[in-house]
Parts: sequence; structure tokens; C-alpha cells
Amino acid sequence: MKRIFSGVQPTGTVTLGNYIGAFKQFVELQYDYDCVFCIVDQHAITMPQDRLELRKSIKSLAALYLAAGIDPDKATLFVQSEVPAHAQAGWMLTCTASIGELERMTQYKDKSAGNAAVSAGLLTYPPLMAADILLYQTDIVPVGDDQKQHIELTRDLAERFNKRHNDVFTLPDIRLPQNGARIMALQDPNKKMSKSDPNKKSTITLLDDLKTIEKKIKSAVTDSEGIVRFDKENKPGISNLLTIEAALTDQSIKSLEAKYADAGYGEFKASVAKAVTDHLKPIQERYNELINSEELDRVLDEGAENASKIANKTLKKMENAMGLGRKKR
Ligand code: TYM
Repeated sequence: MKRIFSGVQPTGTVTLGNYIGAFKQFVELQYDYDCVFCIVDQHAITMPQDRLELRKSIKSLAALYLAAGIDPDKATLFVQSEVPAHAQAGWMLTCTASIGELERMTQYKDKSAGNAAVSAGLLTYPPLMAADILLYQTDIVPVGDDQKQHIELTRDLAERFNKRHNDVFTLPDIRLPQNGARIMALQDPNKKMSKSDPNKKSTITLLDDLKTIEKKIKSAVTDSEGIVRFDKENKPGISNLLTIEAALTDQSIKSLEAKYADAGYGEFKASVAKAVTDHLKPIQERYNELINSEELDRVLDEGAENASKIANKTLKKMENAMGLGRKKR
């Protein structure tokens, strides 16, 4: 069975962008692939984090994975720092990467711009991400569009390592969702919906109350044409809302355009809001049941154990290939 690996950072609350770009794919794929999903807390500390908030976010993210439909009997779910192989393999891949290629990563450029105290970890973030993926001999990585460059770098590092040392790694392929690889900010549909957006009206989180979600969608920036049609260039706001409804209801954009052929923007937005709240209501209910349950700890304990077994096998191969330690491990 082919293997899937993906991860999400436990920083703030998961957005509708994270859900459509990542979680929704994960849930669909878990039936046909051997899936490993990770809460990447070591990636989160590349930016300053409050210790208690981070702890809370790790648990909350685990509950959201399950509430969104990840079945722990089918997929492995674990916390990155609980499997030390990630940091160990991350170091070896940091030594495989060049500073130049890391400085070219757009995410690094965006996050470091205008920031005086940039951590070295922000620069070496992609080799740690490569370690996450390569430790599991991953075939496919489901992510949103913003991770494309990181996956390309992961392939480059894997190829370089295989050539220099030994054929250790499987080369992973990216998988983007059909609709919604980049969900845009509601108040500025030319930029990505992001957890860190200071304008809270731009971002829907999975735990926003349903009335707030409705309000945010109704105040989303659109245009003055008055026709509901998909045109990313000229109508980014309407196109974003169409994409959201298409992704959540598994309908094509074409059929939605036909559905709204005679509708005004008010009616259209109300209908998109209903699609979103109908979709998120059961997820929120399940989240509330899970967040303080013992089930969560049991799943994460088992997940870490299972993940370690797979990761440690590759880690040994990496160490042997590079000649670390006094003898073959
Ligand atoms: P993170 O935590 O920023 O985002 C988690 C996932 O959500 C996707 N995503 C989006 N998709 C569509 N529209 C958006 N507006 C949107 N915003 C975010 C992201 O593409 C991602 O799939 N570096 C990763 C975490 C990571 C990882 C990994 C992912 C660490 N190791 C190994 C895959 C494999 C990140 O920061 O994702």
C-alpha cells in the first residue's frame, strides 16, 4: 500500500484554508493509503510561541484531526517532538541542503522580511520538513499550494542524499486538492487565507461560532458586476466563495455557476455561508466531545509508538549511509 504523510502546525486555530487544502484530502485518502499525519510542534517553534498556548494548540489540533474525520484505526496520528527521529534526520538533511537554496524559499523570505530577530530555525525549516516526509518513505504528500516549493526541495534533497550516499529515500509526489489548493482571505481575495492575518474578518477558523462565520462570509469583499461567475483574475472574491462551496459540497464550479445564474450576491453569499456552517457544525460538535477526553491521549500515544517504528528504520539507514557513530546501527 502506498504511503501518505502530511503535517499541520499547532499555531492558532485551524482555518477553513487548512481544512480545504489539507484536512479534507486527508480524510478522503485514509481509506486507500497507509496514512501518517503529524502535529508539527517543532516547526511551530521556528517563530516565538507561548509555552502554555502551544501545549493547548497541540491538543486542540489533535482533536480537530479526529473531529474532521481521521480514523485512528486507519491512520497514524502523532506529535512530531514525541518522535525524536525527526530532529535527528532533520539535522542530517540540514547538512545536505545549501544556504542558498534555503534562502530562496518564498515562505522564508515572507516570514523574515522586516523581522529583525529571525531564528536560524526559520531558515532550516524546510530540511526538517523534508525529514518528516522522507523518514516514512512517503509516496504522496497532500498539501495546499503554498507548500509546493517545500515539496520540490524535499525531492531535491532526497535525490542528492541518494546519489551521495546510498539509495535510502523514496521520492515523494505532491497532491493538491482539485478545488481549494489556495483559499483566499475574505477581506483581500488576492492574498492567502492565513492564521496569522491580523484582520480576523478575513479568516474563518473551524471553531468560530456559526453566526460569526455567516457574518464573515456576508461581509466578504466581492465586486460590482453582480454576476456569479468564476474568474480568478477579475473576480477573485466571488471565485474564492465559489471555490469554497465547490470544495465543501463536492460540486463542480460549473454546476454552481448554473445554480446561481439568476441569483444576486446576497443570495449567493447566504447560500455559501449555509454550505460552510452545515459542514462545520458536526465537526465542532465532535470536537467538543473529544477535546477533554482520554481517547485523545491514547490515540497520540499509540500514534507516536507506531510512527517511531517506521521512522527509526529509515533513521538507521541514514546514519549508516552517512557513517555516523562507531559502528553500523
Ligand atoms: P501549515 O500548518 O501552514 O498548513 C497546513 C496545511 O494547510 C494548507 N493551507 C492551505 N490550503 C489552502 N488554502 C490556504 N489558504 C491554506 N493555508 C494553509 C497548507 O498547504 C498545509 O498543507 N510546512 C507545513 C507543515 C509541515 C508539513 C510537513 C506538511 C511540516 N512538515 C510535512 C506536509 C509534510 C505548514 O506550515 O503547514
